[in-house]
Amino acid sequence: MPVITTIEDLRVLAKKRVPRMFYDYADSGSWTEGTYRANEADFQKILLRQRVAVNMEGRSTRTTMLGQDVAMPVAIAPTGMTGMQHADGEILAARAAKKFGIPFTLSTMSICSIEDVAAGTDNHPFWFQLYVMRDRDFIERLIDRAKAANCSALVLTLDLQILGQRHKDIRNGLSVPPRLTVPTLLNLATKLGWCFDMLGTKRRNFGNIFGHVKGIENMGSLAEWTAKQFDPALNWGDVEWIKKRWGGKLILKGIQDVEDARLAVDSGADALIVSNHGGRQLDGAPSSINSLPSIVEAVGHQIEVHMDGGVRSGQDVLKAVALGAKGVYIGRSMLYGLGAMGEAGVTRALEVIHKELDLTMAFCGRTDINTVDKSILLPGTYPLP
Ligand code: FNR
Repeated sequence: MPVITTIEDLRVLAKKRVPRMFYDYADSGSWTEGTYRANEADFQKILLRQRVAVNMEGRSTRTTMLGQDVAMPVAIAPTGMTGMQHADGEILAARAAKKFGIPFTLSTMSICSIEDVAAGTDNHPFWFQLYVMRDRDFIERLIDRAKAANCSALVLTLDLQILGQRHKDIRNGLSVPPRLTVPTLLNLATKLGWCFDMLGTKRRNFGNIFGHVKGIENMGSLAEWTAKQFDPALNWGDVEWIKKRWGGKLILKGIQDVEDARLAVDSGADALIVSNHGGRQLDGAPSSINSLPSIVEAVGHQIEVHMDGGVRSGQDVLKAVALGAKGVYIGRSMLYGLGAMGEAGVTRALEVIHKELDLTMAFCGRTDINTVDKSILLPGTYPLP
């Protein structure tokens, strides 16, 4: 067992184990990848204030997200094709999240279906992320399936009406399951552990879609259908309709602008996620940690503000919480753990982040995450220019 002390250790292992097409799918952003890089780099610019001779005993990172008790203010972000980083990936990540005591969010574009994840976690409530497609009958059925599976929040993603371009996915000919071209076969030959695990599962396609939409009999037509189906006309009227149909806790994901944050409040949503989709949509947009303070200032008293993008350590979590985020989501940090070692890798990622969060909080002179605010940050290092 390799020694793992950071998320970077897991990334390196995942790169070795996961076929290039799927590793690149995770570890990439759109166009120049400038926003993708800024998400991580901007966290480093914010500095912490060390305090000493403060009693550091009896520390707690426990808090709530959307009224739900969480072991730390971290949730697993929805990521498409997670079951291609590791066989049955969504079930394994959901189990790790359940055991750790944090929310897991399942993507519409998952490999394991809503029902698979519910069964694989003994019906432990998880959150479901919805992409809005033109086929509203299908969307209604998806919402109903999420309700039937005991999902306790709906995360409605608003920043993917159209798809940002990731050059690597085009070059790699990304497909699910992978088309067996010569370069792909040569690469798979170096990833035998992944192949072996994948042969042991039946879940190798988009589980929420395949078999649930008429006319989708094979992967080729499914890929075409997906590209055609994301609804470019999505608007706030649709948000209202979805809120009504769902009837439970609603989180709006992909907010970056104060004006949109105000519209999110008007929509009656319970929370919003400041997010640029991990730098995968509008390249050239500011990092999430950069966008967070102005949104918290504008609407933080009216709605729960969450964030994601570039979180690779517990220190990043602490900085986001200090700037007003009630919760933080991890996408790639989870995917690297999963790709590296399956469920144990996701657990390891959560342990790494938790330990860093706990120790950093203590160095800043706090013992309870609920008391963390801007005063732990060095003035002048935030908000970012
Ligand atoms: C995503 N993200 C995403 N978001 C969403 O709402 N539905 C989805 O299906 C996906 N799919 C997806 C796949 C992969 C490979 C990545 C990396 C990301 C975005 C995700 O929820 C989250 O916003 C980012 O991952 C946050 O950034 P970090 O933590 O990955 O830096």
